[in-house]
Order: sequence, then structure tokens, then C-alpha cells
Amino acid sequence: MIREFLQTHWKAYLAGIMFLAGIDYLQILVPKYTGDVVNIVIKPPVDLKIILNYVILIVLIAGGVVVGRFIWRMFIVGGARKFQKYAQQSLFDKFLISPITFFDKNSTGNLMAYFNNDIPAVSQMLSQGVIMTVDAIAMTVFVFAGMLTVVDYKLVLISLIPLPFVALSSWYFGGKIHTRFKKVQTDFSFISQRAQESFSNVKTIKSYGVEKKFEKLFYKECDKFARDNFSLLNISAVYGPLISFLAALTTAIAIFLGGQMVISGSVNLGDFVAFISYLGMLTWPFVAIGQVINVVQMGRASSERIEVLMKTENRKDDGIPFPGKFKTLEIKGLDFYYDDAKVLSDINLNITAGQKVAIIGRIGCGKTTLAKLLTKLYDVERGKIFYNGVDIRDIESQSLRENVLLIPQDSFLFSTKISKNVAFGLEQFSEDDVEDASKISHFHEEVVKLDKKYDTLIGEKGVTLSGGQRQRLTLARGLFKDAGLILLDDVLSAVDSQTASMILEDINKMLKDMTVLVITHNIASIKNSDIIFVMDEGKIVESGTHEELMKSDGFYHKLFMIQQIEREIGH
Ligand SMILES: Nc1ncnc2c1ncn2[C@@H]1O[C@H](COP(=O)(O)OP(=O)(O)O)[C@@H](O)[C@H]1O
Ligand SMILES: [Mg+2]
Repeated sequence: MIREFLQTHWKAYLAGIMFLAGIDYLQILVPKYTGDVVNIVIKPPVDLKIILNYVILIVLIAGGVVVGRFIWRMFIVGGARKFQKYAQQSLFDKFLISPITFFDKNSTGNLMAYFNNDIPAVSQMLSQGVIMTVDAIAMTVFVFAGMLTVVDYKLVLISLIPLPFVALSSWYFGGKIHTRFKKVQTDFSFISQRAQESFSNVKTIKSYGVEKKFEKLFYKECDKFARDNFSLLNISAVYGPLISFLAALTTAIAIFLGGQMVISGSVNLGDFVAFISYLGMLTWPFVAIGQVINVVQMGRASSERIEVLMKTENRKDDGIPFPGKFKTLEIKGLDFYYDDAKVLSDINLNITAGQKVAIIGRIGCGKTTLAKLLTKLYDVERGKIFYNGVDIRDIESQSLRENVLLIPQDSFLFSTKISKNVAFGLEQFSEDDVEDASKISHFHEEVVKLDKKYDTLIGEKGVTLSGGQRQRLTLARGLFKDAGLILLDDVLSAVDSQTASMILEDINKMLKDMTVLVITHNIASIKNSDIIFVMDEGKIVESGTHEELMKSDGFYHKLFMIQQIEREIGH
């Protein structure tokens, strides 16, 4: 990714680097001129006009440095900012076209780390890393050249002895400071997470009387934050003064040895002054050499992580549009594995348009997996799932999902108006349609209780909906979409049995043309289905109407009895 970026932006970078090196060159002229002035001043009569010329020159250089610095910053730092934008957008797009298996393997935290750690680290390498490298090389070369024009190389070499230690300590301390700083950052994010969690669950905390426990947890996070902050302070408090000390040591050696040379007359005073100024200019490049190692190390590790990510397989998304309106779904001998674990085996079932079908089974028997396969969230083998006689693998996903809609167990609601949540993804929609969909899912009766009705904001800044209300909103969102086949995956688990039955009856009554597949573990709500498939441990063990299944006295009957007892004891 860096390579592609640099391929289009290398000119700006090159310009930035040239300017930076140019500025470094301008800067080393100043000590030389200062030395010249000293030499003139100590040998009267002094020609003020010449001195004035030097002053003008020095001021011009200072002005040039300001302008030049602005320009190279715009090129180099600006380039890194552009990279950041480019990387953020590319990564985001990459996530959107990744297969769902990718998200099974990467936690949200891990994905966020790409944005919070890796992109900044690479961008840091492209800005600070480049600047420090150029600075370190150009400055060192120019300053040495400048020094050698004014004093003997032996003096130069001797007074440079402490400088490698500057580079070494900046590398060592720089690395340590970075790790400790990261720790402090992590601690802080834990604190804010913990605080947010406690504030938003304050009612639960109070009603369970666990304030003390939460207080203890929070105190612990704060203690850790303070401790890690101190350990950062310890090291950063040593680092700065140590560098200054080493710089001072260099100067001391130079003054001691150079002073003797001035006294003996082998070096003149002006050249000596120039030399000391040069020496002062060397500290920064040596600090930079040390730091650049860390910056590049981290930048490279992060860019490798990003490269690996960008090379992972994309979701395959070719195929024909969904063949017409939904007419039939056939599943033939379908098996499915997560890695090595078999979760579905030999599933066979047929559904035709207009049917109201249910799949029932205990938690973990594979119902959600099946629903995901039906909407191509995971890939299946060829010859297993057919819509209107066409293999699912030949149908383009986007178009498939417009015709076969999966409403998942845990839908996400956005912090915006209720109406917009129902008409999810649409900018323009009719309020009446929103209301119609909400009526069928029995969400409308909840909305009318609110002051602003469908304009009520939900989420952080608005009202909080209960689990059951959220599910009914989610269902309204699905009904709003008008797909031919709609899969309801446990969407009414938080709604009481009676309301759930009413909702499903209304769906059956009002949406006669729509094919509905209800997936649930709650028998009471699906008694009226045209056909019920009973699943257990990844297999379909029975099928038929409620009456047929009750008569056959198998797994369904057993499940029904258990659930009836549970209801009676108020479970
Ligand atoms: N992404 C996944 N990776 C690995 N195993 C999974 C994954 N999702 C579900 N499973 C496992 O597959 C089985 C079926 O899960 P699921 O289809 O969610 O069942 P249900 O919806 O009937 O409760 C369970 O044993 C579950 O632990
Ligand atoms: Mg499930």
C-alpha cells in the first residue's frame, strides 16, 4: 500500500526532501558567517559596512529557513496526512468487501487497531521518519564539512566522542518512552470504558447493590493509570537532561581543547566560535538517528500488518441477478463446517412462494448458520441450495439479499430517528410505509406512546428501547423492505410469547404473498405454520404441521411438553 501511494506521490516527497536538505545547508552558513564577523571585529579598524552586509545575510538566511521549513513541511507532513486518508479509506473499503469469515477471525478491537495504531505508525514513519533521516544525514554531512573548513580534523574527531552516546540514548530511551506511553494510553482507554459502562448501567448497578464492587474495579484502573504514568515520567524526566548533559560534555571537551589551540595561535578566535556553533548543531541529528530507528521499526511492523490484511481474499461477488421473483427454495443434502466442526449435516427442505414456514430447534443446533448460508454470508458447495432452480453460487449476493432478507438476532440500531431506523439505508421514504410496517410488527403501539412519535431519537442522545421494542423495530425494518422471502432469525426472542404469536399471525394475514421462514426455539409462536422443520444437532429430525408433529410423539412433542412446563412455572 505504501508503494502504491509513493508511486503517485513521490514527486512531492522528493521536492520536500530537496527543500529540507537545502534548508540544512542554509543553516550551516550561519556559524561560518558568525566566525567571519568575529575575525573582523577583533582586528580593528572595523569596516561597519561589511558587518552590516553579514547581518543582512544572516537575517535573509533566517527568513529563508522559515519559508523553506513551511514548504518542506507542506510536502512531507502533508504527504503523510494524505497517506493517512488514503490508508483509512482503503482499509475501510477492504473491510466492507471482506467475507464474513474474516470478521469471525478478527475481533472489532483488532480491526480498530489498524486505524488507531497501524495507520498512525506508518504515517509517522512517512513524516517524522523521513524528516529525521534526511536531517540526520544532510545536517551531519554539512556540519562536518563546515567544521573541517575552520579547524583541524583532530579537534573535530575528539570532540565528537560523546555524540554516539546521544544517538544510543535517544534510541534506547525513545523506545522505552514509546512503550510506556502506549501503556498509559491503554490504561486511559480502560478507564473511560469502565466509566462509560458504569454510567450507562448505573441502574443495574444500584439495583443489585454492587456499587462497592464497581468502585473497587474503577479504583484499580486509576491506580494502574497513575503507576504507569509515573513510570513514563521517570524515564522521560531522565531522557531530556541526559541528552543536554551529553551535548554540554561535547562542548566542554571542545572548549578545553580548542581554547588551548586559540591560545597557542594555531586556530583563530572566529574559527573557534564557528566551530562551537557547529558542534551545537550536531546534537539534533544524533538524537534523530537514534529515534529514527524506533520510528522506522514500528512503521515497518505496522505496514507489514496492513499489507497482510490487504492481501487477504475478497468476498466473491459475481453472478447473475436474482432470477425473477422468489418462487422456490430447495436445499439438497447440505453439510456445513466451521473450520473442522460440523454444524449442519444433510439438510433437505423445500419452500414455495407464499408459504409460512418455521424451523425450530434448541439453541446451538445450527439455525442461525443455516439462515446465514441462505443469504450467502458463508459460501456453500455447488449443488446444495437453489432459488427458483438456480444455484445460489451463481446468484450475485447483493441482488440475492434484496430478494431474500435475513433479519438477524441482534440487529444494530442507529442513533437517529425511529423512522430512519425503520427505513434503514433509504434517504427518501414514505412515512406511511414506515407506519404500516411498524403496525404489522406491533411496534406502532409503542411509538404512539412517545411524544415525538416516529421522529423520536433513539440511542445515546434519545430514548432507550427495551429488548422487545428493539426487536419489533428490527422486524418493522425487515417488513419495510418488501423482499420475496424473509428469514426471521429468533427476532422475537425478547418479546413475550403471546405478543410474538400475535405478530406472526399478523404477518401471515397481512403479507399473504410474502414467504416467511421463522426461525425460533419457541414453539408456542409458530403453531399455525404451514410446515414446521424440527432441527437437532445440525440435522432435520422431523417435519410437518403442528398437529402432525404432536401426533407422531417425537422430538417436537417432547420439546413442546418441556416448554409448556417451563411456561407454567413461569420461566
Ligand atoms: N462463526 C462461528 N465459528 C465457529 N463456530 C460457530 C460460529 N457460529 C456458530 N458456531 C457454532 O455452530 C453451532 C451452531 O450455531 P448457531 O447456528 O448459531 O445455532 P443456533 O442459531 O441454532 O443457536 C454452535 O455450536 C456454535 O457454537
Ligand atoms: Mg441462532
